[in-house]
Amino acid sequence: MNGVVIIGAGLSGLSAAIALAENNVQSYLVSLQPSERAQSVLAEGGINAALDTMGENDSIENHFEDTMRGGAYLADPNAVDALTRSAPETVSRLIKLGAALNVKGSQPVLRNFGGQKKKRTAFAKSSTGKIIMTALIDETRKYEASGLIKRLPHHELIRLLTKDGSCTGARIRDTYTGELTDLHAQVIICSGGLNGFFPEMTTGTTQNTGSCAAMLFSMGVRFSNLEMIQYHPTTIGISGKRCLVTEAARGEGGRLWIMTKEDKPWYFMEEKYLELGNLMPRDVVSREMFFVRRRDDTTGDVYLNMTEIPEQVWKSRLSDLREEIIKYTGDDPKNTPIAVHEGIHYFMGGIDVDDRHRTSLKGLYAAGECCSQYHGANRLGGNSMLGAVFGGRRAAETALTTDLCEITQTPFTGEDEFAAEPSEQLIRQERDILLSALGIVRNEADINRAIAALDELGSALNSPERARVMLGRAMLISARERRESRGAHYREDYPGTDESLRKKSVAYVSGNEVHTELRDIPERRTANEDQA
Ligand code: FUM
Repeated sequence: MNGVVIIGAGLSGLSAAIALAENNVQSYLVSLQPSERAQSVLAEGGINAALDTMGENDSIENHFEDTMRGGAYLADPNAVDALTRSAPETVSRLIKLGAALNVKGSQPVLRNFGGQKKKRTAFAKSSTGKIIMTALIDETRKYEASGLIKRLPHHELIRLLTKDGSCTGARIRDTYTGELTDLHAQVIICSGGLNGFFPEMTTGTTQNTGSCAAMLFSMGVRFSNLEMIQYHPTTIGISGKRCLVTEAARGEGGRLWIMTKEDKPWYFMEEKYLELGNLMPRDVVSREMFFVRRRDDTTGDVYLNMTEIPEQVWKSRLSDLREEIIKYTGDDPKNTPIAVHEGIHYFMGGIDVDDRHRTSLKGLYAAGECCSQYHGANRLGGNSMLGAVFGGRRAAETALTTDLCEITQTPFTGEDEFAAEPSEQLIRQERDILLSALGIVRNEADINRAIAALDELGSALNSPERARVMLGRAMLISARERRESRGAHYREDYPGTDESLRKKSVAYVSGNEVHTELRDIPERRTANEDQA
């Protein structure tokens, strides 16, 4: 039986495995953690689709436009076209698989989410990721029973296997026994975002190490838009990570304020942005929060006031969020405004793929947050689960059009330079250096200082450490070379947007050096061209 190796068992990995199984193609689903502990389970607010069940005259074209505008026109329009066009079918398929979304009659209820003028976000209270993952895991079990899906939890990717410029497989390690095995087949990477570069500072899983991305980068796989890091406006600090307060809280009526020196709450978003107010895209809200805290006429933190949300909405749509906030802060958000802070939430940049999820290496595909094409310079809330579910399927469908082979495996008993572990000290030093330059507001002097500090990290690094430093360097150089402000990337020394830079940044390693360049965004194809 022909097969494909999938690295990562969250939403995109499971979607890819199911799509392959539906076509009688086997997959080995390799993941550090079992699906039940994947980051996708943490996703809260919802999944976007122009289903128009709320009678607002929404359309696929509106969804396309909002996504492109939200991403400051750096997303691949052909990828976004396919994503938004297929979104209603993607959500219907999830419902058929048993994802228990909030419905009215038989139709999904939709809620408001940031950067979108129509209600377009289907949801399951504020545990949408958990509910969708449960449905996909269940479907996967069906194919496991017939041998079409073979799950390998507690295994990690050590390196890609390549031959003549193509990916021919993956070397993996059993994290319990330490055994190395070579799997020979085409590979789909679904390993999630770059959270492992920012331990404790992101809303993402603490299990993501970033090592997979670093290894791929150092092996020459191209990455793009690495400077685009999304700060979510409403997070709270808990032990070891940032805890997300879903954007749905604002979609359902939550309001941001800061106290003025005259002791009055100032609803700064509503005052400045009359149409979308608290639901402006995340980059805008986070920046406004950053700046209002620094004014002379304000004092203290920014607060999210959810006390005006009706009882019925708390019960039917946000009860799990309320429980979580009480658990972590001790305060009941029904009665008390909660102090919130911007926190790293999503990486729009990642492995560079085309609109069919092909990477720069033949035989290697990528889907989900690890890759970059749908979200440009800033992702809209609700588009990430969509991108992961759709992207996994699309990557699998692309692989299906190629010459697949049977998956074979051989034990590997030699030494592999990538089997070493990066030291905790190096990971934290690099994190602090990156944070010093890649915050909400950036400038060239800070970035140059950070690059110099990375260069000083030492020469006695093992291969995974060197790989991490190279990818960190690529993030910094991409941020330095984008001498404009666009989406999530705000340069105080270049506060305007420069239309001549409406290009994606591409980073790669060649001859042990990190290189970056700007590449044109493809034109949107017409329907006829797409068929061809
Ligand atoms: O705020 C949220 O619920 C996040 C959703 C998302 O990032 O898509």
